[in-house]
Amino acid sequence: MKNKKVGESQRPLFEKAQEMEERLFGKDLHADDRSFMQSDRYFWHFRPSHHIATGLLTQEDVTLLSQPGKRLLSVGAFPAHLERLLVELGVPSANIVVADKDPAIIGLGNFFETLAFDALDAWPDIGTFDRIIFPECLCTILAEGVKESEASAKDDCARAHPTDALEATLLGGMWRKALDRLRLGGIIRANGPMSHPNVIAAASAHLRGERRNISIESRRYFLSMQCKEEGENS
Ligand SMILES: C[S@@+](CC[C@H](N)C(=O)[O-])C[C@H]1O[C@@H](n2cnc3c(N)ncnc32)[C@H](O)[C@@H]1O
Repeated sequence: MKNKKVGESQRPLFEKAQEMEERLFGKDLHADDRSFMQSDRYFWHFRPSHHIATGLLTQEDVTLLSQPGKRLLSVGAFPAHLERLLVELGVPSANIVVADKDPAIIGLGNFFETLAFDALDAWPDIGTFDRIIFPECLCTILAEGVKESEASAKDDCARAHPTDALEATLLGGMWRKALDRLRLGGIIRANGPMSHPNVIAAASAHLRGERRNISIESRRYFLSMQCKEEGENS
């Protein structure tokens, strides 16, 4: 794929991922679009090379996660093509936990530790991680969460709560749950469509006020959050 914008530093891993996904998932690749897998569900499923092209995971991450005891959590992961490719790249499957609200994730238990939970609700006791990723699922999680909260609001007054404020509250709550499970020096990344910049700014402002050691960087289709080691500059 020549026309996809891929940073120079990501190109070797991107090309390796393209070659591997053809071999591993050839019949499941979308015939007409180089970003997608075929999907029999309501949601789009993405090629691992698409995630690599966006910088969701880098060669440095793969090297780090390949070490004993290092851990990756992937939220909204089903059907975990990216995570299966990581195993082929040398990351031990014991270092990977995949989670999704869709109970079908449990069917991948032969490959990884799997968990079915709603990322907007309480998270189970799953320990801590060096990397937490949200591959192309942040806007889906929030859109559904807003819809459900509005539908369950008991009266018109509660329904009148501005949607942006509700979304910022849901986003901030989910980030807190992820940050509580992030190791020092760890990184959270999300790719794909994001909330409106005002929503991200509102949720970020609250978190920065609460936690001094985090840095947040957001662009239109990418977000990263780092838990800095002591002494690191902001
Ligand atoms: C667009 S798909 C992306 C799937 C996969 N990560 C990929 O890149 O192909 C979004 C995923 O988010 C999951 N999801 C939606 N709402 C969720 C929630 N509240 N908590 C956890 N997962 C959720 C869906 O079940 C779906 O698997």
